[in-house]
Amino acid sequence: MTTFGPDYVRAIAPYQGGKPISEVARVFGLDESAIVKLASNENPLGMPASAKRAMQQAIDELARYPDSNGFDLKAAITKKFDVPADWITLGNGSNDILELAARTLVQPGQSVVYSQYSFAVYPLATQAVGARAIVVPAQDFGHDLDAMAAAIAPDTKLVFVANPNNPTGTFIEGDKIAAFLKKVPSQVVVVLDEAYTEYLQPEQRYDALGWVRQYPNLIVSRTFSKAYGLAGLRVGFGIAQPALTDLLNRIRQPFNVNSLAQAAAVAVLNDEAYLQQSAQVNTDGYRQITAAFTQTGIAFVPSCGNFVLFRAGDDDDAGTRVNLALLKKGIIVRPVGNYGLPQWLRVSIGLPQENAAFLDALKVVLA
Ligand SMILES: Cc1ncc(COP(=O)(O)O)c(C=O)c1O
Repeated sequence: MTTFGPDYVRAIAPYQGGKPISEVARVFGLDESAIVKLASNENPLGMPASAKRAMQQAIDELARYPDSNGFDLKAAITKKFDVPADWITLGNGSNDILELAARTLVQPGQSVVYSQYSFAVYPLATQAVGARAIVVPAQDFGHDLDAMAAAIAPDTKLVFVANPNNPTGTFIEGDKIAAFLKKVPSQVVVVLDEAYTEYLQPEQRYDALGWVRQYPNLIVSRTFSKAYGLAGLRVGFGIAQPALTDLLNRIRQPFNVNSLAQAAAVAVLNDEAYLQQSAQVNTDGYRQITAAFTQTGIAFVPSCGNFVLFRAGDDDDAGTRVNLALLKKGIIVRPVGNYGLPQWLRVSIGLPQENAAFLDALKVVLA
């Protein structure tokens, strides 16, 4: 039989996303309107009205290509985060930034370091370029930064760190990251993936952009998919010093962020009220879900993101079994067996009534 492509591409296990509402309705014979999707860490508030208005204004220009340099969006990012435009790389989601980093910096056979139980795209981006993964055992479900620094090999070109981490929700304090960055050799690039940073409490915040000014080998990635409520549009960005940014932009597809996404992202960057509401709904929902878990004795990993990892049972089929039972009740959560966590499930934090529907269904399923 003819085989196509390199071995390392054929070895890739495809990304498993959250099930779409339409698919669950079709497969389980349910009414779409009765289904609650808490599977992809999306913003339960729905798309911000400010973004919708901006897209309506931009829609008449869709016969033209987008601005490949994203002038207006970079200007809005510059204004909000106080970084120059030539420090910014726009991405088709922050996923694009993670892949760009691997494609720009790593050759086949070289190594990439990341943590056990960290975001599924790190292995994908690593394998796609034929690189060798150095997976560092997690500590209490989170990154063991000392072990990660020690695991850096002579051929390591890239390290991925997610803070907060998905799917475990663990958080690394700023002083620990600062100490880690000091230890990383200057020829090794660190991607600090901050997809969930807007959900941090004020006392947890640290100055990642200050580190970017200090370290020419650091890329901080952010997204509009979570707290900014634009997951379907696919916009994210990376911030790094100009030399690294220039390289990333040579590999970047010229029109990787479409016009509507650019317009919406500008609008929502200026929509402080939406961002605050997102954070508040998340804080309240986290309390609602974890209080119920505590009351019913369900183990969970304390989370700083917009989701919670909880224990579905003690056997290796628990995640699959409880997930299926929840699907039949119209509740979509995320199995994490592909992360090596078959006894666990991840639930995204929704609106109060969505969280309540999930908790009611879970109670019945686990009874
Ligand atoms: C840790 C982490 N990084 C990056 C992403 C990528 O998100 P997006 O491509 O939508 O920006 C996600 C999405 O779930 C994530 O959990």
